[in-house]
Amino acid sequence: MIWKTKITRMCGIEYPLIMGAFGGWGKSDFAYSFSEAGGLGMITALNFPKFEDFRKDLQKMKILTDKPFAVNLSLPHRALDKNFEVESTHERYLKYIDIAFSEGCKVFTTSGYKSSFIEKRVHESGGYWIHKCTLLNHAMSAESEGADAVTILGLEGTGFKNPNSNTTLVNITVMKKHLKIPMVAAGGIGDARGLLGALAMGADGVCLGTALMTTTECPVPLRVKQKWLQTDIFSEDFHKRIYLYNKKNFMAPSTAIAHSKEVIPMKQFLHELVSNAENVLKSWGFNNNEFSSINS
Ligand SMILES: Cc1cc2nc3c(=O)[nH]c(=O)nc-3n(C[C@H](O)[C@H](O)[C@H](O)COP(=O)(O)O)c2cc1C
Repeated sequence: MIWKTKITRMCGIEYPLIMGAFGGWGKSDFAYSFSEAGGLGMITALNFPKFEDFRKDLQKMKILTDKPFAVNLSLPHRALDKNFEVESTHERYLKYIDIAFSEGCKVFTTSGYKSSFIEKRVHESGGYWIHKCTLLNHAMSAESEGADAVTILGLEGTGFKNPNSNTTLVNITVMKKHLKIPMVAAGGIGDARGLLGALAMGADGVCLGTALMTTTECPVPLRVKQKWLQTDIFSEDFHKRIYLYNKKNFMAPSTAIAHSKEVIPMKQFLHELVSNAENVLKSWGFNNNEFSSINS
């Protein structure tokens, strides 16, 4: 089946799937597998305090895949290296963008930081800016400042959240009524029904974080992945960790871990996700060879 959404069109990808940013792991060795499987792989810039290492990894990415990929800019606000004394954080963002453009990357995602200062540079170079946030007012402000799309992270997800975070269901259905730009749903999505549910709620794509943590390519020891697979998302401890705002556990697997049963290669994971979604659509009587939400 051909999948067409505003996000597949913007990013030039086969499926409406965007890889989450991963502090620590979001490098080409992991990200290429997501792009190769038809989604938008993500290189996370904060993993490369040195610009030359960042460039080298982008070059490696291009050897590993000829498919589109994105760069996430969620740099810490403090120094990554000694350069901080002489280069402002904004200048560092723009430098990463210039390097990424020169290596053929066109899509930039930002998070955890007011990033409208990148809009001019990204658009002048013919790229796209997708801002990740959790609240409606932040999404509306990103839209008014020129973001091409927003990723909305729900309470079910992992990563930086806001004390007032809402669920993915509420976020997407409500924000659909307020935003004109495309939306990507993030938070708790890890299977075909989650993907279809998000699209039905009004998203133009989904962002996957936790669901990728148990793929073979995720650079974490097997024993850690196996421990994550045992997570009981219905336990009191888990509930407290994910749903009660705290600054400590923001990298723990989210509710999406409940959909992972074993460690499998990325290609198999994305293939099963999409083909299961196609089977669900067929079971609903959808017999087209093309899924398109471009006009919705
Ligand atoms: C280990 C780990 C590291 C992450 N690092 C970042 C990061 O540096 N920047 C960011 O914007 N999001 C980061 N995230 C959040 C993901 O990009 C994504 O938004 C989130 O995982 C989506 O929710 P899900 O896990 O329920 O799919 C991280 C998530 C994990 C699990």
